Amino acid sequence: MRLDVVTIFPEYLEPLNVSLVGKARARGQLDVHVHDLREWAYDRHNTVDDTPYGGGPGMVMKTGPWGDALDSALADGYERGVGSPALIVPTPSGRPFTQELAVELSERPWLIFTPARYEGIDRRVIDEYATRMPVYEVSIGDYVLAGGEAAVLVVTEAVARLLPGVLGNAESHRDDSFAPGAMANLLEGPVYTKPPLWRGRDIPEVLLSGHHGKIARWRRDEALTRTAAHRPDLIERCAPEAFDKKDREM
Ligand code: ADE
Repeated sequence: MRLDVVTIFPEYLEPLNVSLVGKARARGQLDVHVHDLREWAYDRHNTVDDTPYGGGPGMVMKTGPWGDALDSALADGYERGVGSPALIVPTPSGRPFTQELAVELSERPWLIFTPARYEGIDRRVIDEYATRMPVYEVSIGDYVLAGGEAAVLVVTEAVARLLPGVLGNAESHRDDSFAPGAMANLLEGPVYTKPPLWRGRDIPEVLLSGHHGKIARWRRDEALTRTAAHRPDLIERCAPEAFDKKDREM
C-alpha cells in the first residue's frame, strides 16, 4: 500500500518510522511519502493560508499550494502504476473513523492524506479531487485537534495493522474490540500474564482451568460487563440474538 501525506509539519509524521508502521515500511509492505506543503507555496514567505471570505476568525489554507502538491504526488503514483487513489481528509466535521472504515481503507492500494491546520482547506480543493477519486472526510473523535496530523497517525496505524503480513500473529486481530464475529460490538475484557500472584493479587481461577468453553464464556461475560459500563450504546446496537438468558440476568 502507498501512503502520501501532504503537511506543513513533515516532522510530525516521524512516528511513521517507528514500531508496527515503521517495520511495515522497512519490509516494503507500506510505501510512505511525506510532502512539505510549503514547497508548493509561491511567495517568499511560503504562505499557505489566507483570511476567510465572508470574514470570521482564523485562516483558511489556500487552493494553489494544495492543488500543486496533490497533483505532484498523484503524478508520481500514477507513473509508478500504484493503482487508484483515495483522498483522506481529516476533519472534526468528517464521518466517524471506525474499525469498519479502517477495513475498507486497508483494501485500497493508495491513500493520500491532507491534514490541515488553521480553519481547514478551501472547499474547492476537496470538491476538485472528489470528481477524480473517492474522498473520505474522517473525524477521529468528538474533539478538536490543532491539526489533522495526529489523525493521520491514528488512521495509518489502524489501517496498517490490517494489511496482510503486518501483524506477527495472523490471529491477533480476531478478538479485537470492534472485530466482526461472536463478540461483535463488545469491548475486550481484561487480560493477564505471569506471574500468577503479584502484590497479593491473583488471576481469575477460570483462566487456569484449561476448560476452553468456560474460558470463552468468562471472556464474553467480562466483555459484556465492560461494554455496559463504558459503551452502553454499543450494546443497543447488538442484535437481540447476540444475548442469551444468562446475559439478560447480568
Ligand atoms: N482535525 C482536527 N480535529 C480533528 C478530529 N477530531 N479528527 C480528525 N481531524 C481533525
